[in-house]
Amino acid sequence: MITRRRFLADGAVVATAAGVKLPVWARVKNVARAAANPTAGSAGLVEHGLLLGVDYYPDQTPESLWSEDARMIAEAGLTNVRVAEFAWSLMEPREDSYDFTLFDSAIAVLAKHGIKVILGTPTATPPKWLTHKYPEVLRVGPDGRPDNDQTRRHYCYNSPKYRRLSKGIVEAMVIHYKDNPNVVGWQIDNEFNCETHECFSNSCRRVFRDWLVHKYQSLDGLNTRWGTQFWSQRYAAWDQVDLPFPAPSFHNPALMLDFKRFTSDSVASFKDDQVEIIRKYRPNDFITHNGVFKNIDYYNFARNLDIYSYDNYPTFSDAPQYGTGAAFTMTRGFNGRMMIMEEQTGPGGQTYLLRSPRPGEMNLWAFQAIAHGADGMIHFRWRTARTGAEEYWSGVLDQDNIPRTRFQEFKKEGTEINKIGPEILGSRIDSDIAVIKDYDDEWVFDHQYFTREVNIGAEYAYLFQAASELKYNIDIVSPNADFSRYKVVFGPHLILMDPTLAKKIRGFVEQGGIFIVGAHSAVKNRDNAMTDQVIPITLTDLFGTEVDSFNCYQAPSRDKNGLKFEDGSVLPVNVFADLLKPTTAKVIATWDRDYMKGIAAVTENQAGKGKAVYYGSFFNLESARYLVQRFAGEKNLQPIFTNFPKEVEVTKRTKGNNNYYFILNHSNQSVTVNVGSGFYDLIEGKDASTTLELRPFEYKVLKR
Ligand code: GAL
Repeated sequence: MITRRRFLADGAVVATAAGVKLPVWARVKNVARAAANPTAGSAGLVEHGLLLGVDYYPDQTPESLWSEDARMIAEAGLTNVRVAEFAWSLMEPREDSYDFTLFDSAIAVLAKHGIKVILGTPTATPPKWLTHKYPEVLRVGPDGRPDNDQTRRHYCYNSPKYRRLSKGIVEAMVIHYKDNPNVVGWQIDNEFNCETHECFSNSCRRVFRDWLVHKYQSLDGLNTRWGTQFWSQRYAAWDQVDLPFPAPSFHNPALMLDFKRFTSDSVASFKDDQVEIIRKYRPNDFITHNGVFKNIDYYNFARNLDIYSYDNYPTFSDAPQYGTGAAFTMTRGFNGRMMIMEEQTGPGGQTYLLRSPRPGEMNLWAFQAIAHGADGMIHFRWRTARTGAEEYWSGVLDQDNIPRTRFQEFKKEGTEINKIGPEILGSRIDSDIAVIKDYDDEWVFDHQYFTREVNIGAEYAYLFQAASELKYNIDIVSPNADFSRYKVVFGPHLILMDPTLAKKIRGFVEQGGIFIVGAHSAVKNRDNAMTDQVIPITLTDLFGTEVDSFNCYQAPSRDKNGLKFEDGSVLPVNVFADLLKPTTAKVIATWDRDYMKGIAAVTENQAGKGKAVYYGSFFNLESARYLVQRFAGEKNLQPIFTNFPKEVEVTKRTKGNNNYYFILNHSNQSVTVNVGSGFYDLIEGKDASTTLELRPFEYKVLKR
């Protein structure tokens, strides 16, 4: 079973400006929730050009091959490699004894071919001497047992010893490469929270209490806000508070949410140690981290990174077009700058095997990432490993070094990206439609999941797909983003409401926006507690409606009811059915069946210059399609192209007066599209014809 990867991860609070040294949990207090720049961009990093490269493992490659590898990497048009992210035992073979000779030589060989290096800090893979000498650094599972140390990611973010040793290797590395002109950037650790995403160690228990002290100041405060009178859980001392170990019954939702926030903060704080060191010695290098996993609030996490890296393995899905498009869109929203640090190159697997990419798909997926704002494209990996857990993760070259089709495809891609790179670098994606992704809300649903059909991650993908099918750009943004740049904003499941967010939604609507919330929104406060107010709390007047009651349909829910619109459309219910009692709102759909037949299901309320829409169910693909079309239509939003088939994806990046159109054929059939006149084909280097025939998995980048 493949459990390693989840499409849209979840995450809550911290980061401090690099260089500011605060005790770990003092940082928490300083955190205003992140206001990420929600638009795509190439703002930073422009001086390095579009980063084009491959993940390279000189530590796993005979030295006799390095020079030819470097020559071929350059031949493919690449300018960068990432190295070293798992090589701790090589760089520090004994405690406090460092040896960088292997990477020094490899970097020098690469440099002869014009290839610059992104250094990975190796803290995802502690060496054996470390875990054996200091077993207290190991991550501990919910059953109280420490992880086995024979793979990776088996350490605790809050172990003081691990923090010290991690800072040690990173500082040694950074000082060693302080003056090396061939290093341009850093990747911190590797895929935080991949494989494991919570820890129950004694260190975490101690730090969690400390975190709570900082947050609540007094035990009374915590007792009140957590409502510990329920089930006699009142704490009389801080050391009675514990991590949510498996227990006979269900935990307090307030504890569960704080544990998620704490976990996210722990990761961010671990990362901050390294950011601080790198900024101190190499202030001009860019710093990134790669991958998207559970229990990290990436809006906060990415605030002091220069760019966020997504690791793109589309064949974790059989039909990746919309899933990966949504994932790029989400990643672009973390801090506004996105690249790919690991792009799938061929068939992949560990003990399992994924489907193999078809000829042309690898190139298409790389261009899809760039279409959604990526400013760097690094492929995983140069050569397939000969040993270890990933003998089946294909590199550009097979183990026998013969450059086969993958190398040819790779070279073609390098040449093409080099043609468009200078043009599109610095361009951004402007969208009129946005979807709010709030980690707190997702974490609430992780615990109170209601039924197995509730899938919050899927809702962004549905809305992404709906916009993509209609050929609109769309953003996925933090609740702290500036909504004023959008015309239509969706809040799919804003279960937690606070006065700041309520005010923002109100302001957006009053200024002319259309805001659509999904069912069971504005139900609780940020403590994850119910209140004495009518739902949607603090927003009943804006939406002009009250939630009278709800019905939770058990799986499979979709045929159990429908939302019937005045225009005759009927959309299938998804899990939740809110029974609405409009005050000033107009009813635009009623429940179609069951005991609530005829009761309001969707309402819209005019407020100021805009409109607040309450959609009384969770979103599914049908509702996403209907609502995007209806409200984008009301706002008269212009699609990027019209009359294109679904399998041809389009996005638009903009720089000054230039627009760059990415046209991507995701099907294994040829298709013909009519783009009209006046376009220049950047890959072909000539004017584009008005009608384009796209071969299977072919793509175009046009400029106008
Ligand atoms: C990523 C990871 C890489 C490699 C790759 C292929 O998740 O960062 O180190 O494991 O997947 O499995």
